[in-house]
Amino acid sequence: MSTHESHPVIVILAAGLGTRMRSRKAKVLHEAAGLTLVEHVVRSAMTLAPPDRIVVVTGHQADQVESLLAGRGIRFARQTEQKGTGHALEVCRNAVPDHEGRLIVLYGDCPLLAPSTLQALWAHHEAAGTAATIISTRLDNPFGYGRCVVDEDDHVRSIVEEKVATPEQKAIRLINSGIYCFEAPILWKALGKITPNPVSKEYYLTDIVEILNGSGERVSTLAHPDASELLGINTRVELAEVETIFRTRKARELMLAGVTIQRPETVQIDLDVTVGMDTVIEPFVQLVGSTTVGEDCRIGSGSILRDTTLASGVEIAPYTLIQNSEVAKGASIGPFARLRGDNYVGENAHIGNFVELKKTRFGAGVKAGHLAYLGDSEIGAGTNIGAGTIFCNYDGVKKHRTVIGEKAFVGSNSTLVAPAVVGDGAYIAAGSVVTEEVPADALAIGRGRQVNKEGWAAKKRQQR
Ligand code: UD1
Ligand code: MG
Repeated sequence: MSTHESHPVIVILAAGLGTRMRSRKAKVLHEAAGLTLVEHVVRSAMTLAPPDRIVVVTGHQADQVESLLAGRGIRFARQTEQKGTGHALEVCRNAVPDHEGRLIVLYGDCPLLAPSTLQALWAHHEAAGTAATIISTRLDNPFGYGRCVVDEDDHVRSIVEEKVATPEQKAIRLINSGIYCFEAPILWKALGKITPNPVSKEYYLTDIVEILNGSGERVSTLAHPDASELLGINTRVELAEVETIFRTRKARELMLAGVTIQRPETVQIDLDVTVGMDTVIEPFVQLVGSTTVGEDCRIGSGSILRDTTLASGVEIAPYTLIQNSEVAKGASIGPFARLRGDNYVGENAHIGNFVELKKTRFGAGVKAGHLAYLGDSEIGAGTNIGAGTIFCNYDGVKKHRTVIGEKAFVGSNSTLVAPAVVGDGAYIAAGSVVTEEVPADALAIGRGRQVNKEGWAAKKRQQR
């Protein structure tokens, strides 16, 4: 057996608009747990087949879908007019790398499918020896799904879509998940025989079941016990349900790996986020994108970390926003701090309330405890930034940098007009406006001198 024959071809149908989403955006581009729906499905597919044996059928916003999935080596086929799932499969006939072996069909709106279920389909189909195998499940409320009509041997005789089902058929609770494995040569022969549905005028892939039965073939079914994994997203209500399932799964996985999550139902952690042991996540935290959190950290309530890396022992106090930044071990940030993109916070540094950072590098042990804007800057180890410090990084045309040495002391309410340079160990007196370079170990005072007028206030009171 060649390596190719041991892998299926997998076709993912992702061309539809998704009318029921009521969106300008193609359904498969909507996100759950930080990934688009189609990316979830492609990930599952890639656990079973090499990328050059995966074909995604695109149509609505095909350019966006294809560029999102580019760089993985998967193939694409275009369905320029969406005439149904049967038609979508037909248009990828030429893009499919071979017409022998087996072909698995997945729908781009079914993102929870686990790799183990795909494996089970593959094994079940192999053992059944039928022309096709369909994953099905029983639902208490099967509304909207195709219903599987089975015979006494549990072979599927036909699939009846909601739109055309009789009341008796609508009562069937065994539904078609839209996940199929076909013997490819039989599939390609039968596919051409699908005719448009008289009601919707669409070519339903599901009609192939009756066609196969008509030519003496058998279609088996793999009944899956976990219906939630097969949820197909057609509306935003189902999108929210799927999001909840992803979050619950992720939180559970992290808790079992040693992370404390308080009120896990309130926490949003994206699929690719990692969190180390003994870290505590307080209620209403969001860890999104490619965020990585080390061990023994604490993430305070209401904090949002996006594409951010925390080393171990980092403390994030409540309501702190951090984006695309790196924080070294032992640092503490917040409450109410905001780290916009591209910051590095050194070991044991401290950032307090109402401090905003952008493109700033904090050395080890730097402290900025209160009310500051520190942008486009570099601050040496052990420096203290007083309350109310502002780096004036923008002159109305360009951004400029502020560079401060080690163990310097910036007094409260100082304004540093960039480009600004402050040497190691220098002091800046509180309330200064710094417009010139401050040499190492110097004291810079840039403010009006205080004048006391003796007795002035008392005299003023007497005049009243
Ligand atoms: C489909 C099945 C139904 C099944 C359900 C499972 C058909 C006819 N019905 O219904 O039996 O129970 O999925 O979730 O197959 N697509 C295209 N081109 C098209 C039409 C659709 O690529 O012309 C894609 C969509 O982008 C989507 C997928 O096919 O990802 C399924 O289409 P959708 O309209 O959601 O089918 P359902 O009504 O959910
Ligand atoms: Mg669907």
